[in-house]
Amino acid sequence: MNFKIEEWNERASRWPEFIACLTEVAPDQLPFVLGEQYRAHRSYLFVALCSGEVMGLLRFAVQPIGPEAKCPTLHIGDAALCEAKIHAFAVREEARGRGIGTALQKRAIMRARELGCHQVASYSSYGRDANHRVKLALGFGAQPEVHGDKHQGVYFILPLQADAVLSRPAAAPTRRIEHERTT
Ligand SMILES: CC(C)(COP(=O)(O)OP(=O)(O)OC[C@H]1O[C@@H](n2cnc3c(N)ncnc32)[C@H](O)[C@@H]1OP(=O)(O)O)[C@@H](O)C(=O)NCCC(=O)NCCS
Repeated sequence: MNFKIEEWNERASRWPEFIACLTEVAPDQLPFVLGEQYRAHRSYLFVALCSGEVMGLLRFAVQPIGPEAKCPTLHIGDAALCEAKIHAFAVREEARGRGIGTALQKRAIMRARELGCHQVASYSSYGRDANHRVKLALGFGAQPEVHGDKHQGVYFILPLQADAVLSRPAAAPTRRIEHERTT
């Protein structure tokens, strides 16, 4: 199956086709696209088209690292670090297993790197084996976490900018505390 990947934004005339595909294939992900959670951040959408029809999609928001986990924004020196957080990722059932999901992830990784994101992140429930296989094959690390009382899931994180951090001058060392001699 031949496919091509395009980047669309909310002003694209074909935006409703993306919403229609998501509604059919992964309605559980709709609140992340239509709801408030990521509205404060700029989002980026990639669609996979086969014979002009939307067969797959991936959307991520660029957000600071930290606040979503109720932590302060992570800084290196005075630079705030940001991440590409994937909040929609799905391929129509009849088109699965042909590399579309992997190709969407690769385009997102490339774009996130261009945007200066420090990492790509996503969260997935247990049992989504195809999704986990795609992520692990691309080099994501996996961090299991329980949400709320009992929702078991996995954070997947792919670092992108280790070189950029290393090339940044380190912050001045904090003053060393001199220990008083007691003898
Ligand atoms: C996850 C998803 C987007 C992957 O799309 P895709 O186009 O099939 O992805 P690819 O073809 O690039 O790769 C799928 C891989 O998973 C493997 N796979 C498929 N079904 C599998 C299963 N039930 N268990 C384990 N691996 C599976 C395929 O063999 C392939 O691996 P390979 O390339 O090493 O053979 C698609 O399965 C999907 O839409 N799932 C439902 C929505 C979802 O779970 N989204 C994730 C949101 S958290």
